[in-house]
This record gives sequence, C-alpha cells and structure tokens, in this order.
Amino acid sequence: MASMFNPLRLRPALRSVRAPSRAPVRFFVANGRRSSAAIQVHRDTPENNPSIPFKFTPQNEKLIQEIIARYPSQYKKAAVMPLLDLGQRQHGFASISVMNEVARILEMPPMRVYEVATFYTMYNRNPIGRFHIQCCTTTPCMLRDSDGIMRAIEDTLGVHHGETTADGLFTFTEVECLGACANAPMVQINDDYYEDLTYETTVELLKALRSAAESTAPTEGRKDHVTGNITSEGLKGVPQPGPLSGRHSCEPAAGLTSLKNVGAIDWKAGLRTDGALDQK
Ligand code: FES
Repeated sequence: MASMFNPLRLRPALRSVRAPSRAPVRFFVANGRRSSAAIQVHRDTPENNPSIPFKFTPQNEKLIQEIIARYPSQYKKAAVMPLLDLGQRQHGFASISVMNEVARILEMPPMRVYEVATFYTMYNRNPIGRFHIQCCTTTPCMLRDSDGIMRAIEDTLGVHHGETTADGLFTFTEVECLGACANAPMVQINDDYYEDLTYETTVELLKALRSAAESTAPTEGRKDHVTGNITSEGLKGVPQPGPLSGRHSCEPAAGLTSLKNVGAIDWKAGLRTDGALDQK
C-alpha cells in the first residue's frame, strides 16, 4: 500500500507557521573592479594567442616525467597544477599556448586545463613585470596596516593593483593570505617574502629593486634552481627576504619570553647542556 505520508500536504501548513518574510535587502558592492575579473576570459592578443608555439625545455621535460610518475598512470591529469606552474615559470606567464601544451602532455581536454588555470589566481594568464609585487590584505595584515603598504606601493610605482608599470618592471597585485600572518604586513615579490613592513620600508624596498634592476642585467640575481629564472634575491642593494624589522623569523617582537638561557642550549645538537632535564 502506498504510504499515507504525502510531503505536498505539509507545505500549506509549513507556510502558515513560517516567520514573516523580511523586507528584501539590496546589497551594494562598493569595491573597485577586481583586477582578477580580467582573467576570467581569454582574448587573443599578439603576445598571448594559440598560434604562438610553446615547448618545455629538455630540463623541464625531465622534471615533468618525475612529476607525472608521482601519480597512478590513469590519473596523470592530477599533475595539471605543477605542470601549469612549471610552464608559467618557464614562459613568464600561463599563456594559452602553455595551457594547450599541458593539456597535450596530460592527454586532457584543453577546457579542463583552462578551468584550473582560471580558478586559481596564482596562475598569471597575462604577461607580468620582472617583479611581481603581491600585497596581502587579509585580516591579520589589514590589522597591521596593509592599507599603508598598498599606499606605499601606489605612491612609489604610480600604479594601482592589477596594473603593470609602463617600463614593465613591476606588476602590482592585491592577494589574500599568503600564510605569513605572524609577520604581517607582508608582500611577496616573485618567490620571496618581505615581512614586518611599514610604509617607509616598503618604499625603500621598491626603490632598491628599481635601482638594482636599472643598474644590473636582467640575468643577475639568484637563479631559480628549477627554471633558471632570476629572482630578486641577490640583486645588489636589495634587502634579503624575510622580516625587515630586524627580528629573526617570527620570534616575539618584544623579545624572547622563553628559552632565554640560550647558553644552556646546544642549538646545533638541539640539546640542553645545563643538565636541567637530565633524569635525577
Ligand atoms: S593575512 Fe597576510 S599573510 Fe596571512
């Protein structure tokens, strides 16, 4: 026998006990145009169109085989993200030709690769400057004045986020948390983190980068061990990556609160030498 329970009969009863509906609220979004809105679609340009050939270097081809070997052979498309990253590092940005080559290697429909590349903002689908300045404005950085850092970048470079300087040296992007909240506010420049920033140290850093770039060949600096790309590290006059406040890593800004008796610790061996923890 069919069940007597009919959910449709319940509907009028439920409607009558439902709370009176609230007056419709209309939300207005006051944000400026998101720079990443530009990356949701592809438009052929002279520097980014499918007729521009792209091939991985023999060194990266080897690396690709290593990456693909990490996954079961029937799931080699799982390597799409590291391969896109490798293509971006080799080519400078994840162009449509890079994406098509990744799709060919992984035997995936190109659309599946486009979906990944357009979802993750770390893939730059248009050319970027020699220094990609990514400024974090998520809550911990915002509470420690990431607005001031954004202003310092705008004042020094004369560009807003999502833009590249006319000389092609700097691209400025606003990003979400980069995982260095203990050293907020911070920016990522290419692969390096610069942390504990102030308006002044940010201006100095950018000026140092500009003068180093103008006085050195684009081939100077530290070479990325995978791609051979030049990073900002090692450029003359440019501060070492890390906190620019003088503190070491993310130790307490007001000084040590524990492990003060550093003489009692053999840092190399990771052991106490004062015998405090020895068994009695
Ligand atoms: S909030 Fe800026 S690094 Fe986490």
